[in-house]
Amino acid sequence: MIVQTKVTVISDRTKLSHRDAELLEIAQNAGKNAYAPYSQFRVGAAILLKNGHIISGNNQENAVYPCGMCAERVALFYAASQFPETPITKIAITAIGNEKEIRQPVPPCGSCRQALLEYETKFREPIEVIMAGEKGDLYIVRSVAELLPLSFDESFLD
Ligand code: THU
Repeated sequence: MIVQTKVTVISDRTKLSHRDAELLEIAQNAGKNAYAPYSQFRVGAAILLKNGHIISGNNQENAVYPCGMCAERVALFYAASQFPETPITKIAITAIGNEKEIRQPVPPCGSCRQALLEYETKFREPIEVIMAGEKGDLYIVRSVAELLPLSFDESFLD
């Protein structure tokens, strides 16, 4: 068995569609408001819903480290709480480093991949993931399932 993930690499940001560029800009702005005093790594995420709404979020840290939350899940859970029946079309993720510039695309952590997968499974529609740093290449993956192969989902609980 071979498990493959197709990653589209975009080196020139001006090649992004207008919609994707807008989503990324919203994620960048969300990152500016992150609460990340411990890591100094401010993450922003913006989710495009099928109904056209855009919901953004940022990471929220805590002195009790595990109580913090990633930007993606802040945005995701708010989106799902406000629009429970609306599929998610895509998510853009980026970060601002307070101490050093982020030059690599920022991928969602494993827990966020699992959380995103839940809604991809629920709506049976792929969620495109756009990953960016402050500078440099962008990565685009067509679905969360491709970022989390051999995953555990609702089908095991039937
Ligand atoms: N973080 C996110 O918000 N999203 C990611 O995809 C990676 C990590 C946050 C968690 C923590 O507040 C900080 O970045 C450093 O791990």
